[in-house]
Parts: sequence; C-alpha cells; structure tokens
Amino acid sequence: MSEQYRVAIAGATGAVGVEFLECLEKRDFPISELRLLASARSKGKTMPFRGRDVVVEELTEHSFDNIDVAFFSAGGSISKKFGPIAAKAGAVVVDNSSAFRMDPSVPLVIPEINPEAAAQHHGIIANPNCSTIIAIVPLWPIHKKNRIRRIIASTYQAASGAGAAAMEELRESTRAHLENRDFQNTVLPHPYAFNLFSHNSKIDPATGYNEEETKMSVETRKIFNDPDIRISATCVRVPVLRAHSEALTIECERPITPAEVRQILSTAPGVKLVDDPEKNYFPMPKDASGQGDVLVGRIRQDSSDPSGKSICMFVAGDQLLKGAALNAVQIAEAMVERGWLKSAVAK
Ligand code: A2P
Repeated sequence: MSEQYRVAIAGATGAVGVEFLECLEKRDFPISELRLLASARSKGKTMPFRGRDVVVEELTEHSFDNIDVAFFSAGGSISKKFGPIAAKAGAVVVDNSSAFRMDPSVPLVIPEINPEAAAQHHGIIANPNCSTIIAIVPLWPIHKKNRIRRIIASTYQAASGAGAAAMEELRESTRAHLENRDFQNTVLPHPYAFNLFSHNSKIDPATGYNEEETKMSVETRKIFNDPDIRISATCVRVPVLRAHSEALTIECERPITPAEVRQILSTAPGVKLVDDPEKNYFPMPKDASGQGDVLVGRIRQDSSDPSGKSICMFVAGDQLLKGAALNAVQIAEAMVERGWLKSAVAK
C-alpha cells in the first residue's frame, strides 16, 4: 500500500465518526490528507489524529473537492444530500447510513463476504446495517458449506446504534434513576434506564415489522446474493451502552451439527468463538466492545426441529466497529489492496 489517499469523514464528531478516526489510525490507513466534517456547531473543534490536532470543518458542498475517499456517518438525510455531491467531485463514498443500501446500483459490502461487489460502484458504496453485519459475518461461512434457508433473529441492541446523544441519555437517565430524580427522555422514545423497548424505528403497517427488522431481511438477501433466504427478525433496544447481541436460529438445506458449526467458525475471518458451557461463558457486549471480531457461542442444535437442519447460537459484536466504522474502513482497505481505489477515482 504505497499510495496515499485524501480522506474525508462526514460526521467526524459523532459516535461512529470518532471510531473512524481510531480505525484509520490504528490500521495505518495510508492518508496524505484528512478532512473532518460536522455541523456548524462543531466548526473549529479539534480532534487528535496521529499525534496532531485536526480542526473540524463545517460540511459544505465544497467539502469533497480533491478527496479520494469519503466516509459518511452523519445520518441518512446528510448522506442523501452530500453523498452524490462527493461522488460527483470524484471521491469514493463509503456510506454508513441506510440511504443507498437497497439501490441496485450501489454495492452493499462486508469484506469477509462480498468484497468483489465493491468493484461495481458508481461513486457510492454502502455499509450495511449494524445488526445485519453482526448476524451475517458468522453465518456466511456456514451458508457457503450448507445453504441457510431460514434465519430467525432476536436482537439486543445497544444505545450506540442511536448515536452519541442516545449513549449520553442512557448514562444520564441511569444516574437519575439511581439518585431517584426525574428524567425526561428526549433522544429515544421511551425511558431507557432499567428498561428495554422495541427498536425505535417505524413499523410498516402492512407487515408489522419495523425498519430495522426489514433491513436485516432485505440487506442479508442482497449481500448473500440469495433472494430466497427467509428471515424474520425482532429488534429490541436494551440498556447496554455499546455492542449489539443477537440470538440467531438458522435452518440449513441439509442436517448440520453444533460440532460442524464450531469447526467452520473456528477458522472464519472476523469471528471469534466464545463458547464455554462449563464456565457458562458466552458472548457478552462487554467483551465485544472495542474489538473487531463478532463473538459467537451458545452453539446448539435447535431442539424444535427434529430434522437436524437447524442450529441456535448467540452472537455479540461492537456496533460502532464491525457494525459501522471498522467495516467501512475495511471496505476502503479491500479497494486499496485490489488497486480499485485510485483507478475508481475519476479526476
Ligand atoms: P455535530 O457533532 O456537529 O452535531 P451521532 O450519530 O453520534 O448522532 O453523530 C452525528 C454526526 O453527524 C455528528 O458528527 C454531527 O455533527 C453530524 N451532523 C449532524 N447534523 C449535521 C449537519 N446538518 N451537517 C453536518 N454534520 C451533521
């Protein structure tokens, strides 16, 4: 990786934005220039990067001039407005929002699964939904060996998925609860401390599924390039600060055993087995926080399926890292490694 790239981060001050900076620094992404972009509120703030302070600029239509790769995590409406502007200015956009994910002309990429899809981009590449990434990184190697026909997922999603303000609301409301003070929630729709609630996205009255649940279905089909896979998800927000957990039940085409699943996952990229029944030690968001791998455990035969084709498991993954910033940086790395980043930039 001898080439250097001019990089912009839209939403640099947000929960995911901060992680972009960390990932780029830790992974030694080849950067010749770094532009940090946020709202007017953050203009002039500084953020540390590689031993120096980088000044945050206000995001404008000219923010992407002379930029090679732009990471976006400032919300869907910002992506919709500024993503095409950045792409037109010649940057490759790696967008963390849901704005373009289901656009047939936009690749939806998890480097462990479909890195080659990134080559097909027209200026924008979408980073999948966090719950989708965390579920399907471990499911893909199983799917390749014994096609998965059906997935039932129940999520336990952290505050981080709703941004820095939601994380602060969880901290503040917990403090208030313990000190017996009143607290008015303003970021999330329900009291969060010592509570949980159905994911805070809109329900489709036609299906009864909320947007997060629908994303898990449609995005998995697109990434696996398998329109027939059947998925039903129940997405729940739990009072965990960071890292999502999920209970997954999969039904494969042919019988499969827990030992086979363990064998497959023991060498799978991006996956770490945490499966110790003796110590009752399994994936926890506390352990998943701050690390790039998806933790997988509680691997067992689904006793409700006598055919032997179904497996249950429990996973936990850092929503801000593999579920967002890390996956996006890995997409850019995959493009650099394959020589696609420079050639894709039409300048
Ligand atoms: P700011 O910190 O200046 O508000 P999170 O996902 O944690 O809520 O973070 C959202 C990110 O998107 C922040 O960096 C935030 O910047 C940025 N952002 C929000 N609204 C705008 C906007 N209108 N223009 C540019 N950046 C925005």
